Amino acid sequence: MAGRILTGDRPTGNLHLGHLVGSLLSRAQLQHKYDTFILIADVQALTTHFEHPEKIEKNMYNVTLDNLSVGIDPEVSTFFIQSMVPAIAELTIFYSMLVSVNTLRHNPTIKTEAANYGYDDLTYGFLGYPVSQSADITFCNANLVPVGEDQVPHMELTRKLVRRFNDVYNTDVLAEPETMLSDCPRLAGLDGNAKMGKSLNNAIFLCDPEETVKTKVFSAITDPQRISTKDKGHPEICSIYHYHQTFNKQESSKICESCKNAQIGCVDCKNTLFEKLNETLKPIREKRRYYEEHPDTVKEILLAGTKKANKIGNETVAKVKEAMHVKYF
Ligand code: TRP
Repeated sequence: MAGRILTGDRPTGNLHLGHLVGSLLSRAQLQHKYDTFILIADVQALTTHFEHPEKIEKNMYNVTLDNLSVGIDPEVSTFFIQSMVPAIAELTIFYSMLVSVNTLRHNPTIKTEAANYGYDDLTYGFLGYPVSQSADITFCNANLVPVGEDQVPHMELTRKLVRRFNDVYNTDVLAEPETMLSDCPRLAGLDGNAKMGKSLNNAIFLCDPEETVKTKVFSAITDPQRISTKDKGHPEICSIYHYHQTFNKQESSKICESCKNAQIGCVDCKNTLFEKLNETLKPIREKRRYYEEHPDTVKEILLAGTKKANKIGNETVAKVKEAMHVKYF
């Protein structure tokens, strides 16, 4: 193995096509090269959903199924639940001594998320979640973290924190992780919004049945200036064309030309895309069905992975405490 990867998702909703192309597919490939740890970040989900913990509870299972269904192999990768690894909470406390409030306040992702959620007075937990994220990464000494652009500030914080820790305590206990930035452009929403989002009502979910995908594709916003098939289209502003570029690469330039020249109508174009999406989603649905029919297997996967994570985490905490002289007897 070339090293260790730590990656994961907040269980705040089902994962969708944006996650598939942005992280899950590469995750499934990387697991064969790197020792891969998949975090179900339920504590981080509480930072925004503490008033609705029942949503997190429901989504824990769904997010695990989403990962399993795209081919994350539990024999190869380690799935674990954040709240069940106390080492992460302990490390978060120790690390919090080394991070200034101003650094957290100026974190651009925290700022954007706070604005999106309409927070004007941040909770301590929300402001500090990047510190907890550093603990997620370092408890298992991960050296590679695949992320999207929005997570880069958290990676910078983690790297800085690791250097600071090793420097202050004159140790090399913590490994400085590398950021592996996703090279896939963000997938747009069905409504033309630049981002497909879990709660934006513009997503095709991995767990959507065929009929739902069809309804969603056919209700997607296309080129508003194209009223009849005779009108020449503007594929560059059409979300359906955008999906063709991702899920139907081979035909996308032909579709682009045909749309521009009014040789293909939106209905045909949507039908072709629907077929392509189904090709992608069919094997995912089949794997999902297997795990849905075997809930005990899913539970065992999470428990076994969490046990392994705890073993590693406890070793890291012991080393961290020793380095910090928090070891008295
Ligand atoms: N913040 C990440 C997200 O919103 C989830 C996450 C939690 C994470 N801990 C992590 C990602 C550690 C990478 C590494 O998607």
